[in-house]
Amino acid sequence: MFDPFATVVRRINEPGTAAALRAAGPIVRAEAPAGGPVWIVTEEALARRVLTDDRLAKDPAYAPPSWDRWAAGLEPTAAEQPSLTTLDGPAHAALRKAHAPLFAARRIQGFADLIATIARRQLAALDGPVDLMADFTTRFPLTVICELLGVPADRVDQAVAACARMGAYGPSEFAAVMAAFADLAAAALEHGGMAAELRDRVPEGTSEEQVHYLLFGLIFASQITTDAALGFLVARALGDPSDDLVGEVLRQQPPAPFTLWRFTRAEVELAGVRLPERAPVLVDIAGINTAGAGADLTFGAGPHYCIGAQLAQLELRAVADVLAADFPDARLAVPYAQLRRVDRGMQGSRLVELPVLLRG
Ligand code: HEM
Repeated sequence: MFDPFATVVRRINEPGTAAALRAAGPIVRAEAPAGGPVWIVTEEALARRVLTDDRLAKDPAYAPPSWDRWAAGLEPTAAEQPSLTTLDGPAHAALRKAHAPLFAARRIQGFADLIATIARRQLAALDGPVDLMADFTTRFPLTVICELLGVPADRVDQAVAACARMGAYGPSEFAAVMAAFADLAAAALEHGGMAAELRDRVPEGTSEEQVHYLLFGLIFASQITTDAALGFLVARALGDPSDDLVGEVLRQQPPAPFTLWRFTRAEVELAGVRLPERAPVLVDIAGINTAGAGADLTFGAGPHYCIGAQLAQLELRAVADVLAADFPDARLAVPYAQLRRVDRGMQGSRLVELPVLLRG
């Protein structure tokens, strides 16, 4: 059986494992990266049910007891560190409510000029053949989220470095990376940006340290996803353009190919398959999106729907627009079909390199 979580380098248009996974049924049992079974949902209607099913928990406290927390890359449990991605039910709703006005569509739309200006400035600073995956796609979304939250501009390098360390970690690395993010969060809280606004809105009893963790979540979630999407977007814009570029790229190369983990609170039956208690469940977003039925789960669905969906799309549109308006002669330095991506299982796919001549 193929491994949907394997790290594999492929050509940009080479199919991954989604079709084979889907062919295996609406819910497929595979081997989890941390060992033992995982159930992957490959069918849209079932996926939407799973994403709103309160018999499934996001809290890693429900992860299989055999899993090593570090090998599995699990977040701290909700009891250790309450967050949007690990809470469910009323506690999650309260935290969502605290975040909601910050990321509402109209509010985010108000940053369109600022975001375009950042894109223009960062692209204009690049010269000669550049690898945009190295020099732009990580820095740009981090500059934007730092600016919005109130992290001082001279701390963006620190944010880039902290995100780069998020890949593989053990207890001591995790503590060090979290300390780096906490430092950024504390710097943001000294300013009057959205970070301070969030601190004023979180449910009573939320500690300063917990607010730091929430801010870490926003910074990291906005980087890992938008970074990858920007690579595919610019590659398509220059090598294989189409009308609805942002929508198509997000649907066809969704930056989160799987949802985050969910775990059954008790034994559950899904599509005739009996899952034991504490069974890990994922939704195959990439497979469902590309199956051809017009499904779009790029930003998830249900109560955990991506809070940054508006922001991410605005960032992508800004880059596409700035590229077209300011860099009309930009071209890929290698043929589009030769670009390579690395598929990294739950971490998503990212172009290995994106060599571009911005001025032709
Ligand atoms: C193209 C870019 C992005 C994609 C494809 C994406 C995708 C997703 C998906 C699929 C989920 C749901 C995961 C699940 O239910 O297991 C999610 C949740 C989330 N996203 Fe995004 N995201 C993107 C950008 C962003 C940005 C820019 C932010 C920063 C504001 C962000 C912050 C979050 C947060 C905090 C959650 C957790 C929400 C919750 O559990 O209530 N994302 N995202």
